[in-house]
Amino acid sequence: MLREVLEYLNPQEGQFFIDCTLGGAGYTIAIAKRVGKNGGVVSFDLDKMAIDNAKKVFKDNDIDNVEVINDNFKNLEICIKEKFDDKKFDGVVMDLGMSSAQLDDVKRGISFLEDRPIDMAFGEQLIKNRRHTTEFIVNEWKIGSLERIFKIYGEEKFARNIAKKIIEHRKDERITRTKQLVEIIKQSIPKKFQSKKIHPATKVFQALRIATNNEIENLEKALPQIVKLLYPGGKIVIVSFHSLEDRIVKRFFKEEARDCICPKTAPVCVCNHEPNLKIITKKIVLPSDEEIKNNLKARSAKMRVAEKL
Ligand SMILES: C[S@@+](CC[C@H](N)C(=O)[O-])C[C@H]1O[C@@H](n2cnc3c(N)ncnc32)[C@H](O)[C@@H]1O
Repeated sequence: MLREVLEYLNPQEGQFFIDCTLGGAGYTIAIAKRVGKNGGVVSFDLDKMAIDNAKKVFKDNDIDNVEVINDNFKNLEICIKEKFDDKKFDGVVMDLGMSSAQLDDVKRGISFLEDRPIDMAFGEQLIKNRRHTTEFIVNEWKIGSLERIFKIYGEEKFARNIAKKIIEHRKDERITRTKQLVEIIKQSIPKKFQSKKIHPATKVFQALRIATNNEIENLEKALPQIVKLLYPGGKIVIVSFHSLEDRIVKRFFKEEARDCICPKTAPVCVCNHEPNLKIITKKIVLPSDEEIKNNLKARSAKMRVAEKL
């Protein structure tokens, strides 16, 4: 949704922006070109591969106004403070989820289309936490926890069946490859419910990726920090791909835009809450038909924008 992101961020010569999710650097480069030498972009990514690739692209394109930070955007405030002290920004963008490069990476098992190691981590910091690898989740988590993530993060109807089959399977052998998991999922969903359009493993893989990377928690932690880092008038643009993420963004914007957050039953206001945001997109912005035609993955993108007051 590059066109829409640029339209709302409206980067001008000399301004400064944060891109929380560098990925293939498409958004970062477009913003960096618009703000020119007197402005700049600070771009985060958990993934060293994304950082290294982007550095090469910046060099090849003579882009020298981008500072990259290989960290989790949940640490936004502290990372910015370390490098830029109390600097404020004209806009912050977040393009959630995974990049195409991560999906295609043979060392990772984010895609269910090839047989790969079952590792869906966005970055090495996550792999260091042994209790939170995809392999650990699949092989060690209890049935209830697996069922819950398949239901909540994957919106998978056959969550219980799949969780049960995983538990049965791992009594015989450890699940270490994506192919094993795909087979288990196929066996757990009755044939008549297996859609021809959507691969049966789509939802479970999405759920495991979200759980491995703590994606919901990261988003919840980052949103209030973004508001603090903006100048008044600065924009916050969030592109999400999951209804759960979109609901979190929608609720956060709504809360921050309210001037009173007292319970509805309170006769008078006692909270003294001041609104911090103005909601710019009353409804979600969806990708254009043309974008969906050129890139099918964009079809579930949802964008929301707010402005710091
Ligand atoms: C959808 S891609 C971004 C694509 C990018 N807008 C572009 O133009 O190519 C999302 C990127 O965000 C990164 N990411 C996801 N969660 C993150 C987090 N909590 N902190 C930092 N980076 C994160 C992923 O590693 C991935 O590279």
